[in-house]
Amino acid sequence: MSTLHATDLTLPVGNDSSESIANELAFQGYSIRHNLIPRPLLLALSQHAKTMHDGLFHQAGVGREASHTVNQFVRSDSIKWIEDECLVTHQWLEWAEELKSSLNRHAFLGLQSFESHFAHYAPGAFYKPHVDAFKGQTNRKISLVTYLNEGWLQQDGGQLRLHLEQGPLDISPMLGTVVCFLSEEIVHEVLPATRDRYSIAGWFRQGTLLG
Ligand code: OGA
Ligand code: MN
Repeated sequence: MSTLHATDLTLPVGNDSSESIANELAFQGYSIRHNLIPRPLLLALSQHAKTMHDGLFHQAGVGREASHTVNQFVRSDSIKWIEDECLVTHQWLEWAEELKSSLNRHAFLGLQSFESHFAHYAPGAFYKPHVDAFKGQTNRKISLVTYLNEGWLQQDGGQLRLHLEQGPLDISPMLGTVVCFLSEEIVHEVLPATRDRYSIAGWFRQGTLLG
């Protein structure tokens, strides 16, 4: 693995792209990008996700705190919440912070906090159709999913399927693809894959994590 330099990772989020993401979110509820994340950061995240000890991941659940339950019929991935614990995760959180600020500049979203986790979908794992937030709660507003899989082929499966008014839209989890969507509006699911699938799922929230 090549050495990671902090200066490689701090390329700003282009103003142009955050403006068009904000517009696409407003007009169609989602936005798909392929070159949003600086390449060195992307490669470092991908490497990190794949080499983290298996024991750090745990079976994902559904719902928050008291209502949190593990339900293998709904989702069967494993996750690891991202904390500011090493250079790679630090740079990721800084990058997301910058995207949050530039989205706030271009749209009156009032995004305040960000939370994210690595997800590992073993072959056959899935996440059934769901939304990421319930209307009326101070909660997740924008979902941001980042894919970390090099050389992914259509026939490997594992697409993110957005259920749109005009019909389903499938997105392959290819390295560097980033999908943003309105957390309360867009029903989506993860289709099973034939190989290991790594992603980062993140959410910009209104209100703090406690609010
Ligand atoms: C989620 C989710 C999509 C993906 O974690 O809520 O929808 O492609 N993830 O990993
Ligand atoms: Mn989701």
